Amino acid sequence: MQTLTVELEDRSYPINIGAGLLRQQSLLQAAVPARDILLVSNTTVAPLYAGAVREAFADRRVVEVTLPDGEQHKSLATAGRVFDVLVANQFGRDALVLALGGGVVGDLAGFVAACYQRGVDFVQVPTTLLAQVDSSVGGKTAVNHPGGKNLIGAFHQPREVLADTDVLATLPERELQAGIAEIIKYGMICDRGFFAWLEQHIDALRARDAPVLSQAIYRSCQIKAQIVGRDERERGDRALLNLGHTFGHAIEAATGYVEWLHGEAVGVGLAVAAQMSQRLGGLAEAEVARVQKLLERAGLRTAAPRIGAAQAARFMGADKKVKAGRVRLVLLRAIGEAYITGDYPDAALQDTLQAQFGA
Ligand code: NAD
Ligand code: GLY
Repeated sequence: MQTLTVELEDRSYPINIGAGLLRQQSLLQAAVPARDILLVSNTTVAPLYAGAVREAFADRRVVEVTLPDGEQHKSLATAGRVFDVLVANQFGRDALVLALGGGVVGDLAGFVAACYQRGVDFVQVPTTLLAQVDSSVGGKTAVNHPGGKNLIGAFHQPREVLADTDVLATLPERELQAGIAEIIKYGMICDRGFFAWLEQHIDALRARDAPVLSQAIYRSCQIKAQIVGRDERERGDRALLNLGHTFGHAIEAATGYVEWLHGEAVGVGLAVAAQMSQRLGGLAEAEVARVQKLLERAGLRTAAPRIGAAQAARFMGADKKVKAGRVRLVLLRAIGEAYITGDYPDAALQDTLQAQFGA
């Protein structure tokens, strides 16, 4: 097992990564001091892994909430159901919410933990690759609103993250690939060596080779932990983590959040961000080609859907990352050197959107 820490003073917490962690009852018990535990999972994950959690806490009060599977259930209505269970069971401020699942379960359970009695403890046991490298770390919790994704939420850090790589054995291939997109993102943001390591190990990663998975998750979490430690509330550097996301969100929104997985849309967004960076003269053609090739080798699509430049621009403008009416972009000077800017010629963005999304 490898451990690293998200350094946030009195709210610092460990991320434990390794194979078979869910089978180590003492590890789970140490992560969860509470007597009253609300175990939040979904109909896909609970039958596979909730038993291990139940067994570890045989001497505690564990109440389970099994949500329907799917992004459409990451809503205030579903959160309301979970609050009802907490109230009906008279859970107090000393209760703990344990999220067992992917980013949907983690974001929703974290949001509930942030709000219930003005905040109770929560622990993340992420079960998708995307959740292990991204959503379980950093304390962003949220539910969706019909007007937009993640519009209602709170920053609420977990007290521990337990990423058991064994659970990835049951993850569908598409979901694995979506997680790999986020891993590639970290290399592109700030670690050229990690990007080169991914070029060497991409086949092993796709084959779910345990040491390679652990190493990729560890480095991804380390990068995210460092950035979150510097800028928990996204007042500056944390926005670097949105590399590829502004373009990706436009794809997700324009296609109704059903056709594309978040990580798949981010993968295309990374390719588009590289193209835009090249257009501004910052990124060499050979670097753009490396990004494109690695995404393709990861099994990800790199061509954007033809949603049209105007529609893409509209959805980008509705993104949370807009400041003073200007879409702030995360772009690259080189692989491993990302920067945030609102200062670019509108024509360059327009040309990029037309080239990628169609007129
Ligand atoms: P998800 O939670 O929908 O999980 C994907 C699918 O895999 C689901 O069907 C799920 O039931 C299934 N699954 C999960 N673990 C499994 C396992 N071990 N074996 C078999 N099936 C399994 O999707 P996701 O990609 O994990 O998360 C996407 C969500 O995360 C989005 O809502 C996004 O907004 C959010 N997100 C949040 C942050 C953050 O910082 N909080 C960051 C990135 C993404
Ligand atoms: N996924 C982006 C962030 O956590 O800031």
